[in-house]
Amino acid sequence: MPTIYIETYGCQMNVSDSELMLGLLAREGYVRTDDPAAADVLLVNTCAVRDHAEQRVLGRMGELKHYKRPGGVLGVMGCMAQRLGPRLLERVPQVDLVVGPDGYRNLPELIARAASGERAADVAFKSWEHYEDVPPVRGRTSSAFVTVQRGCDYRCTFCIVPMTRGPERSRNLTDVVREVEGLTAQGTTEVTLLGQTVNSYHDGVHDFADLLRAVGAVPGLRRLRFTSPYPTDFTDRVLVAMADTRVVCEHVHLPVQSGSSRVLKRMLRRYDRERYLEVVAALRRAVSGVALTTDIIVGFPGETESDFAETLSLVEAVGFDDAYTFKYSVREGTPAVRIKDHVAEEVKAERLERLIAVVRRVARGKSVALVGTEQEVLVEGRARRGDLLQARTRTNKVALLEGPAAWIGTYRRVRLTGTSGTTFTAWPLEREPALMG
Ligand code: SAH
Ligand code: F3S
Repeated sequence: MPTIYIETYGCQMNVSDSELMLGLLAREGYVRTDDPAAADVLLVNTCAVRDHAEQRVLGRMGELKHYKRPGGVLGVMGCMAQRLGPRLLERVPQVDLVVGPDGYRNLPELIARAASGERAADVAFKSWEHYEDVPPVRGRTSSAFVTVQRGCDYRCTFCIVPMTRGPERSRNLTDVVREVEGLTAQGTTEVTLLGQTVNSYHDGVHDFADLLRAVGAVPGLRRLRFTSPYPTDFTDRVLVAMADTRVVCEHVHLPVQSGSSRVLKRMLRRYDRERYLEVVAALRRAVSGVALTTDIIVGFPGETESDFAETLSLVEAVGFDDAYTFKYSVREGTPAVRIKDHVAEEVKAERLERLIAVVRRVARGKSVALVGTEQEVLVEGRARRGDLLQARTRTNKVALLEGPAAWIGTYRRVRLTGTSGTTFTAWPLEREPALMG
């Protein structure tokens, strides 16, 4: 049987898309391998959000090409494939196949043609494409990603995603519910709904509030998450649905990008600083104890020292539990390219450093306050180092604890005993009867 190796970069939606590709190819008899040297087909699922992400992939292609066998296939999938299209075929001669996020349905055929020497790029948008009939091959059992919305219709001036993922479209609620029912029947208890502006979900009849309630009612589901919501799409209906739906977890990733209203306007975000703070307050009223994380860009064109100071003060004002922080990266074809006053690289680097220091201090304060509290955790697997287990609270905090491998995939009551700043050590409050001394 032919073997397939997939390497995934970027966001959770790419992880989910790789699971789709594996599903498509499994139907054709492909078997997955984790060893590129053993693969007939090598695919790299890529991210185009920042130049750094693309450079990493290009570097990796230079290594992976050595694993390509005679008659084998090397393909670039995802957002970078969409952005560069046939240019990638010119740039890396060993690449046979370039396929964007809407073209995976044709993968088996494209791979067969590539194996016979035909190099091709498929970067057409298909606004109807949901891969509804493709059963993804997922890596984990207790937790699963479920894509509910593809593409993006927002036009943040820094962002390449609308150009790489095409127009926004939502799956039908009944299809999503059916998929989640199938997952829980196989032992999945935690689901993360994915979309670029996931809370703007609308299938023509149902909105995101309906979706949360419907998925939340699936028997066997214990945790429901979603990412990434857009701040101004938290309607009252959605807030009430979150509050009413017991399985919805107390964590929201709420990308802010900047704390300066002037910069937010130039980014074409649909809120200013005050509106964002109102959304935060509304979320805290609706979901008590909600943890908030965010994405922040420093050095957007025209960002002054006082704009940046507003970002620092916003981090303090909100009290984020954590933040992903980025230096603005110019993306060819996005509107921000035309904004003058690009911020010097050294200034971006220096602002990023100061931002990270504030984010860490604020996050640590939040974490220290949680030490000593009791939490329910889902044990996800072994910790990367040592022989501890890694678990996650409903608020999405990572906790390490001692326990038998049999706990993996189960829920445990723990007490948080210490913190490194963002992760915790935890002590199980109940032991398995067989383990009790
Ligand atoms: N749909 C998501 C964002 C997808 S991109 C949302 O609106 O939340 C993920 C993150 O990458 C963004 O939130 C932003 O912080 C960052 N990002 C996007 N484009 C960028 C760029 N040109 N330079 C630096 N960071 C960028
Ligand atoms: Fe990008 Fe803004 Fe959409 S950050 S993915 S254009 S909401």
